[in-house]
Amino acid sequence: MQTKWWHGKVAYQIYPKSFCDSNGDGIGDLQGIISKLDYLKELGVEIVWLSPIFKTPFVDQGYDIADYEDIDPVFGTMADFDELLAKAKERGIDIILDLVINHCSNEHEWFKKACADLNSEEAKYFYFRKGKNGLPPDNLRSYFGGSVWEPVPGHEGEDLYYLHYFTKEQPDLNWNYAPLRQKLFDMINFWLDKGVAGFRIDAIMNIAKDLDFPGLPADGADGMCSANKMTAKLSDQAATFLTMMNDATFKPHDALSVAEAFGVNQDSLKNYIGDDGFFNTIFDFSARELNEKYPAYYRYRPVSIAKWRDTIFASQERVNDIGFMCPIIENHDEPRGVSYYLPRHAQNADGAKAFGAVNVLLRGLPFIYQGQEIGMTNTRFNSIYEFDDVNAKDNYKSALEGGLTPSQALEVLNVESRDNARTPMLWSSEKNAGFSSAPITWLKVHQDYQTLNVAAQKDDENSVLSFYKQLIALKKNPQYKEILTYGKFKALDPVAEYVVPFARELDGKMIYVIANFEDTEVSYGVNADSKILLSSKEVQLQDGRVTIPAVSCVVIEL
Ligand code: NOJ
Repeated sequence: MQTKWWHGKVAYQIYPKSFCDSNGDGIGDLQGIISKLDYLKELGVEIVWLSPIFKTPFVDQGYDIADYEDIDPVFGTMADFDELLAKAKERGIDIILDLVINHCSNEHEWFKKACADLNSEEAKYFYFRKGKNGLPPDNLRSYFGGSVWEPVPGHEGEDLYYLHYFTKEQPDLNWNYAPLRQKLFDMINFWLDKGVAGFRIDAIMNIAKDLDFPGLPADGADGMCSANKMTAKLSDQAATFLTMMNDATFKPHDALSVAEAFGVNQDSLKNYIGDDGFFNTIFDFSARELNEKYPAYYRYRPVSIAKWRDTIFASQERVNDIGFMCPIIENHDEPRGVSYYLPRHAQNADGAKAFGAVNVLLRGLPFIYQGQEIGMTNTRFNSIYEFDDVNAKDNYKSALEGGLTPSQALEVLNVESRDNARTPMLWSSEKNAGFSSAPITWLKVHQDYQTLNVAAQKDDENSVLSFYKQLIALKKNPQYKEILTYGKFKALDPVAEYVVPFARELDGKMIYVIANFEDTEVSYGVNADSKILLSSKEVQLQDGRVTIPAVSCVVIEL
């Protein structure tokens, strides 16, 4: 495997609207992030991914971009961004941005010009199609509900539609048109030339389209079929575009490219994350994907930590000889992992530490999502009006249509909603958790902020935050860096349902990471001279056996 500058590092995701508000408008911003750079440095992260900060009407919270080369005024200015980049660099932190190029916003100049003049150059940047037999061109269902086709604004009644896989305010870009691809590649290079270290790449497998728009057999009572089924069929076509993008942008800059690539054929992973892959790495969403086979969001099945372990271990084994994936336990599209995957008795600081050890020490480039490092759990929403997310609102509606009562539908959102993890970062026990001085914040503040916050944890050596610092320091410790970066992943015998045990192995050396989420202790055979590198509770090591207390973890060098 070729060595890369980002190997051995730990990455951190910032959701800018909710990280830190410097100007008191209730919304996080770039100056707020700058004010927390020392916090990130102290935590030990060396790569920071910013969810979108570009000009946007915020229909999908910035994943609807109206200008790719400008900062949204809510977040600040380009000067603020340049300052952030420089100050992060001074602290040894690289910034990666969010690349949302399957679609833009309906407020992008391109889309406005395209609708205003169907013969314009910009009209070729989108998929405009005539309907078929009085219906939209095909029967695909968008990710956020309803048809992927919408009448072209200004041309209603003309049987003319545009394609959008996400909300109708996010028209899909036509990757089959070479000049549009070139515009996107130039934009990527604009940011890389500025000093951005790379990108997290949004929804990228969706860029391939069957230009005949044949549709697919219905998978629901609405007669439609999920767009992701079409995407999965077209991955070869996407591959051609991905190679072009890599050659024109990431490769020449030695940039870090991390893809959100749902639906990749597992047999072709080498093409994606191998030495000559389209990307450097992709997120491991396999545990999250377990619920995708259920037709409706409100029919989700809880995923236990046992299922999580089996699923994630399988993908770790799959890529051992191929490349790196990015282990995560949550992000801005998912509920908090501690609430979602852990048994009830472990949905607390002890569980958060043990889950953190798994996240940071699995093989790959781990991403920590803001707030995870203090053990944030799901936020409690008491009414549908407290939600912001377009996806939550859409799924609430479908749940009611599917026969759930309003309180059942609310409970579904409390478990599944993306807003669970989007609420403000908890900095202190002050007003709005120290996130903002505004009278009201854009999304409600987590119910436990008075006790669950950074200020309460930073000087407490037993806190979740202190434990994350130790985990990251261990991963970077020159003595263990090699094995914790390049060491093969090996699953160990779980011995009980809620135990997540694995080894990292390199050149005959071995490190065990054992997370015990049971409510009783478990024990493992190790070597007589094994050394405990880190543990979240006191563990017993005697006669070649280690005993790990309930809801805790240990890292041992054998
Ligand atoms: C994935 C992003 O993470 C999500 O937040 C967004 O809604 C969709 N892609 C569409 O861009």
